[in-house]
Amino acid sequence: MRRILILVASLILVVCGVCAGLATWVWNAAALSTEGRVAFVNRLAVPPLAPSRMDGQGRRVFDLRAAQAVHDFGGRTATAWGFNGTYLGPTLRAARGETVAVNVHNGLTETTTVHWHGMHLPAAMDGGPHQSVQPGQTWSPTWTVDQPAATLWYHPHPHGATATHVYRGLAGLFIVDEATTGADLPHRYGIDDVPVIVQDRRFGPDRMIEEPTAFTDDIGFLGDTVVVNGTIGPYLDVTTERVRLRLLNASNARGYAFGLADDREFAVVASDGGLLAAPHRMRRLTLAPGERAEIVVTMRPGERTVVRSTPPDLGLNPIGRRFVGGVDTLDILELRAAATLAPSAPVPGRLVDLPVADPSRAVAQRAFRLAGHAINGRRMDPARVDATVTKGTTEVWRPLNADGAPHTFHPHGVSFRVISADGRAPSPELSGWKDTLYLKPDVRYEILVDLPHYADPHVPYMFHCHVLEHEDRGMMGQFVVVEPGGTAGAPHGSHG
Ligand code: C2O
Ligand code: CU
Ligand code: CU
Repeated sequence: MRRILILVASLILVVCGVCAGLATWVWNAAALSTEGRVAFVNRLAVPPLAPSRMDGQGRRVFDLRAAQAVHDFGGRTATAWGFNGTYLGPTLRAARGETVAVNVHNGLTETTTVHWHGMHLPAAMDGGPHQSVQPGQTWSPTWTVDQPAATLWYHPHPHGATATHVYRGLAGLFIVDEATTGADLPHRYGIDDVPVIVQDRRFGPDRMIEEPTAFTDDIGFLGDTVVVNGTIGPYLDVTTERVRLRLLNASNARGYAFGLADDREFAVVASDGGLLAAPHRMRRLTLAPGERAEIVVTMRPGERTVVRSTPPDLGLNPIGRRFVGGVDTLDILELRAAATLAPSAPVPGRLVDLPVADPSRAVAQRAFRLAGHAINGRRMDPARVDATVTKGTTEVWRPLNADGAPHTFHPHGVSFRVISADGRAPSPELSGWKDTLYLKPDVRYEILVDLPHYADPHVPYMFHCHVLEHEDRGMMGQFVVVEPGGTAGAPHGSHG
């Protein structure tokens, strides 16, 4: 439908002068700006830290229960889904080296799953479409956290229904800590270290509207109302000179270019999978669905400023761009500094030692061509293995956006490094650990993937576009990790 509208709009614009009025309407209807028009009247909700307990085997145990509820978004209530609450879920937190277990209870009336996005863990614990949790059932994955400190997240992954389950509110953060890093960064949760989970929604009188509009049917859902941590029109009281925002784009399909309304610089200190080698100062940071970043903003006493998303550089043509939210400006969150601010340590010049992303370590190369809701011409089939890799090895993968629509690439169970984009080194904010990468159309990306250290010939990991409607329509494939010389088994169907 969107393609047709684009085509119609293009034809009208080019050929038919007399229809300029209609063209203007279509054109204008596809752009959105809330700049200066959001009333920041609701205190930003901060997801609670999930309580945990140590069990007899020394595991840190969490409980998550997904259920339907009525959520107050701040002046608007709507039926929503949440974990242990009315919308989103608590922040899970564990340190590298700890063994965790999570009891995931499904209190909904339909089957779901919970996937640990960005976590390095065995495929059977990953929570993808093969780890269904039926209504009334509890699934209890367990694994040992073994990766750098990072802002990861969790969300459902039932094949064909991920978009709706996330849209309704099932998502949360999983923060991995590491004793040896980040001590000089703001780190008091909810005070100077604050989750900022950004989603776009559309509201009817008493409900969230789930249906994409005619414009957005093909791209995925685009909303007109930004919700942060489940709050509309949110403000954050800042009491320290510096505040660290853990940004998660948990929207189904929308990309953002985050910045401050007064264009001040901020320091990007982390990408999806951990800290950057050094902070990178910038004014606009683009995050596609599924991507995270941690930024440190410096505030002056008594001031207010707004986190605003300006039109992101999605690498699209001017017409296509307009119909996927690519020209939208959205006010996200107001930062309100107290009259006096507690001192914060300066952002350190060096953050962490990152290994060189050396492609000579790669034992194989693989191409992934994303086009038409398929990858390499195939749509997701839960019973098909698309790639077999060897445990603990490293490969060069080449994801390519070949159809001009916005796509991202996200492999499960791993972190990767961007080696190059069209032969050039990645920009600094993309130079650290990543697990989700926005693919500009036709740009040749090369990524170095450190494959999982867990072999299981029968249970696959997913790779997919994180535009959730694309994923649901089949833009997803499966890879299996085997021991050296091993062969892939036969995965069950998605409800196996
Ligand atoms: Cu956010 Cu397949 O994941
Ligand atoms: Cu994932
Ligand atoms: Cu896509």
